[in-house]
Amino acid sequence: TDRYAVFGNPIAHSKSPQIHRLFAEQTGQSLSYEALLAPLADFTGAARSFFRDGLGANVTVPFKEDAFRLADSLTERARRAGAVNTLKKLEDGSLLGDTTDGAGLVNDLVGNARLSLHGRRILLLGAGGAVRGVIEPLLAQRPASLVVANRTREKAEELARIFADLGPVEAVGFDELQQSFELIVNGTSASLTGELPPISPKLIQLGRTVCYDMMYAKEPTAFNRWADSQGAARTIDGLGMLVEQAAEAFLLWRGVRPDSAPVLAELRRQLL
Ligand code: ATR
Repeated sequence: TDRYAVFGNPIAHSKSPQIHRLFAEQTGQSLSYEALLAPLADFTGAARSFFRDGLGANVTVPFKEDAFRLADSLTERARRAGAVNTLKKLEDGSLLGDTTDGAGLVNDLVGNARLSLHGRRILLLGAGGAVRGVIEPLLAQRPASLVVANRTREKAEELARIFADLGPVEAVGFDELQQSFELIVNGTSASLTGELPPISPKLIQLGRTVCYDMMYAKEPTAFNRWADSQGAARTIDGLGMLVEQAAEAFLLWRGVRPDSAPVLAELRRQLL
C-alpha cells in the first residue's frame, strides 16, 4: 500500500493518523498513515529510512526546520516560511517540501468561519515558527494591515523584513499596541502553559473583533477565555486549522481535496 506518516517528538497523541484515515475513507483512496517517533538528534535518518518506500510525510514539532533542510526542493510558501510540515516524494525520488499550516489557517478563517479578510486590520501575536508559516497566506487575502507583535520585538521585525514585499506587514512590541483590530490571531506558545501574552483589552472592539487561537483543547484556551470576557464578537480555536492543514497535505499527495467538515465535526465530538 501507499505509505504515509507523521514525524514528531513526542508524537503519541497526534490526531493526524485519524484525520488522514478519515480523508482516505471518504475519498476512496487506499493508503496507510502512521505516527512515527523520530529521535530528537536524528530526524533526517528517520525520514530517509521511511522514504525508502514511503510516499509522503507530515512533520510536526520540533522537526519543521530539519524537514526544511532535508527537502531537495521547496514550494515558494515553504521557502518563505523557512519551515516544512509536508514532504512528498516526487517521481524522480527527490523530496519536495511544502508548508500547509498557513493555508490551513486561512481556509479555516475564510472557508469554515466565513470571515472576509480583505481590507481588515489583522494582528498576529508571536513571531515563532507557528506565525512565520501563516504570514504569506494571510497577506494574500489583502488585509489593510498585518501587525506582528512579539515579546521579543526583534523577532517580529525580522519577520516583517522577510515578508515586506508581499504586503503591508509591520512589527511592534506588545506595549506599543493601542488600537483595536478586526481579527487577532494568537500564535504564541503561551496557551500551552495557560498563560496570556501581555496585551491590552483595548485591542478588542466590543462585538466586532474576532479572536483566533492556533491552539485547541477540551476547554477554551486562556486567550479565548480572555477574548470572550472582553466582549469579542467570536472566538475560534485551532482544531479547524489542524484539519485544514491536513486536507492541504492530502491534496498535495493524492491530487484529491477531501471534505474537511465531517472530519472536523468528528474530531470536535471526540474532544468534548
Ligand atoms: P512555535 O513554533 O510554537 O511558534 P517558538 O518558535 O518557540 O514556537 O515561538 C514561541 C512564540 O511564543 C514566540 O513568539 C514567543 O515569544 P518570544 O519570541 O519573545 O520568546 C511566544 N511566547 C511564548 N511564551 C510566551 C508568553 N508567556 N507570553 C508571550 N509570548 C510568549
